[in-house]
Amino acid sequence: MNVHEIAVIPGDGIGREVVPASLRVLERLAELHGGIKFQFTEFPWSCEYYLEHGEMMPEDGIGTLKNFEQIFLGAVGDPRLVPDHISLWGLLIRIRRECEQVINLRPVKSLRGVPSKLADAEPFDFIVVRENSEGEYSEAGGSVHHGEDEIVIQNAVFTRKATERAMRFAFDLAMKRNKKVTSATKSNGIVYSMPFWDKVFREVSKDYPEVVTESNHIDALAAFFVLKPEQFDVIVASNLFGDILTDIGAAIMGSIGVAPAANINLNGKYPSMFEPVHGSAPDIVGKGIANPIGQLWTAKMMLDHMGYDELGAHLLKAIEETTASGVKTPDIGGTSTTEEVIGEVLKRIS
Ligand code: NAD
Ligand code: IPM
Ligand code: MN
Repeated sequence: MNVHEIAVIPGDGIGREVVPASLRVLERLAELHGGIKFQFTEFPWSCEYYLEHGEMMPEDGIGTLKNFEQIFLGAVGDPRLVPDHISLWGLLIRIRRECEQVINLRPVKSLRGVPSKLADAEPFDFIVVRENSEGEYSEAGGSVHHGEDEIVIQNAVFTRKATERAMRFAFDLAMKRNKKVTSATKSNGIVYSMPFWDKVFREVSKDYPEVVTESNHIDALAAFFVLKPEQFDVIVASNLFGDILTDIGAAIMGSIGVAPAANINLNGKYPSMFEPVHGSAPDIVGKGIANPIGQLWTAKMMLDHMGYDELGAHLLKAIEETTASGVKTPDIGGTSTTEEVIGEVLKRIS
């Protein structure tokens, strides 16, 4: 029996609804497999935890997480209780950084039974490789100057190492898919970082002669997500561009409630972290209607990452059969509850 130690952080809001629901599905999949067991250890780190302890996680929280194989996270943030920059930098971004989860993988794929927000969408299936360690999400050299003429300085950092790493990851992935990589740039308007980004993209592409490349400015690329999503295979983007693009990706999939993500540690030293694209959705918390599919699909990515591709494929098939059967939460046009969706997925996996 292979026992896998998984750290679980439900976090805030609907994270506490979709995470426990997804753990039941993971447990059932392990039973079906017969040779594996997930040992889940839950941590209550959240905005409520902050109100009680003055920090989002204990001092040795990162050290604790590093003892686990993977991290399964719901959502962080409750701006009614704690300002977002404190809660997110105190937990989510801190884990991404300190566990060296340098790539954020975000699939964008149409699902059977989930109506796209695009009227005439052809089926699409692509993946965004979001650089996850630096870029526009930087504290380096930032400063606030108070007084009559307030000035705030916010820098972006693009290192050769992280830029090239994200691009190589994207090209390697494209070699296993449809051999096309699209780079998200803005070198017409952003004078230092983006021309550098383009230069590294051109250099790396030379090592992959079989891969078709294109480079689109982020404004045009955002529009292409709406106009012709079926033409993408792999997209490589900086931290902020990848963040924005994947919310558009979620919208064309039908709802942010279905979009998954995986924060990947590449050096094998620390755990990777699996979390959906969506946040804590304070507007629907407690209503029992949070869509669990983003979190479930994230669980599928965790299974794939751990080498259980067959179980992962089985789970995605059950998710699609569920949506195709019409058992869906209101955000994707149904009338079912979170519980009913999970019940249907459980029925279909077993
Ligand atoms: P959000 O994703 O929480 O919600 C945006 C909209 O999508 C809301 O109308 C919400 O009801 C809906 N939605 C989101 N997930 C859904 C689901 N599973 N099922 C059905 N509907 C769903 O984004 P927001 O409102 O900008 O942020 C709320 C909080 O979450 C903030 O504190 C924000 O910083 C945080 N946040 C955290 C993460 C994360 O932990 N990875 C991601 C995004 C936002
Ligand atoms: C995401 C979120 C986070 C990000 C926020 C909450 C800091 O939007 O995971 O997409 O920007 O990375
Ligand atoms: Mn986001």
